[in-house]
Amino acid sequence: MKQIWITKKGGPEVLAVREAPDPRPEPGEITVDVRAAGVNFADVLARMGMYPDAPPFPCVVGYEVAGIVREAGSAVRRFAPGDRVVALTRFGGHATVVSVPESQAFAIPDQASFAEAAALPVQYFTAYLAAHVFGNVQAGERLLVHNAGGGVGIAAIQLARRAGATVFGTASEWKHERLRHLGAHTLIDYRRSDWVAEIQRLAEQGTVHVILDPLGGGNIRRDLRVLAPLGRLVSFGFSEPVHKGRRSIARALTSLLRMPRPHMLRLLNRNWSMAGLNLGHLWSELDRMHPIAEALVAAWRAGEISPVVSAEVPFDEPGEAHLQLQERRNFGKVVLVPVTPRRG
Ligand SMILES: NC(=O)c1ccc[n+]([C@@H]2O[C@H](COP(=O)([O-])OP(=O)(O)OC[C@H]3O[C@@H](n4cnc5c(N)ncnc54)[C@H](OP(=O)(O)O)[C@@H]3O)[C@@H](O)[C@H]2O)c1
Repeated sequence: MKQIWITKKGGPEVLAVREAPDPRPEPGEITVDVRAAGVNFADVLARMGMYPDAPPFPCVVGYEVAGIVREAGSAVRRFAPGDRVVALTRFGGHATVVSVPESQAFAIPDQASFAEAAALPVQYFTAYLAAHVFGNVQAGERLLVHNAGGGVGIAAIQLARRAGATVFGTASEWKHERLRHLGAHTLIDYRRSDWVAEIQRLAEQGTVHVILDPLGGGNIRRDLRVLAPLGRLVSFGFSEPVHKGRRSIARALTSLLRMPRPHMLRLLNRNWSMAGLNLGHLWSELDRMHPIAEALVAAWRAGEISPVVSAEVPFDEPGEAHLQLQERRNFGKVVLVPVTPRRG
């Protein structure tokens, strides 16, 4: 099998494709022939040395794969060879064959493409937890989605549309039309205009009820300027300090210092709720993910959500996959595929 290694901290050139022996399943594991492996912003951050959860270098990252079960361990109950699955991988997913505990795998519909399936776990779990579990978004409420054109943003828009919320999104301008098509009502090019002023101008009462924020830092401070009473702010990332694919300690520190640390009394008096979300720290809660996975697959079958695949990049070109994310060229999910590339 092939694996994509991050050999050391650096640019896309530090990625290397290496051969390794095929894994066999432990009793409670399935071994999957990978047809598509999801690439996440966390993988790019890991390569840049900015993702504290990543394993030490050299390492193989990758949080999700879709493919066909090749072999099932003796204690596996839910899957058999030939089954089509999508699975969360606790790193190591950027490989053409992986073994994972069956509790981390979910069946996918027969008609689903593997690329679409690989777009589901990380981004739709994150969007679901942010919008529904923490955000508790309701019909008629106003939701602000930052990075609306990223995979989590697209998932959040689809879920919020289904819930009957009005969606405001911030994204690069070339994504606006497609985002409107997916259900966003108002789009703001946050890199060219003052999005706070735009929300204050365009939203009823100049406020929103729920905000999903993956930027962190000073952006959270700005969020609070448009959060309505009884509003919920969900923070799930810290991409503000990443600039042109480079990390800067000074930028990270500045961003950290700008991040507000609201006192409970302030939350109490403003009637605000603030939550933090890190899917990568929920491995102990997999049982609670299963009903969410079932709800997402049911919504997918019903056509209420549909993962957007930005590009299928061959396994032999991992640097290109990373660059698409880093250079903001993606609209939705970038996946690595072992065979027959089709570019989006
Ligand atoms: N906490 C969690 O559990 C969790 C889970 C998944 C993702 N996340 C975080 O959520 C964020 C979005 O994830 P995603 O999977 O939706 O990402 P994605 O599909 O790769 O989308 C990335 C988009 O983010 C925008 N962006 C904002 N700041 C950026 C920067 N400094 N460099 C490059 N692009 C930047 C760009 O869109 P525009 O040009 O339109 O702004 C880019 O296209 C990331 O920060 C990620 O780390 C957190």
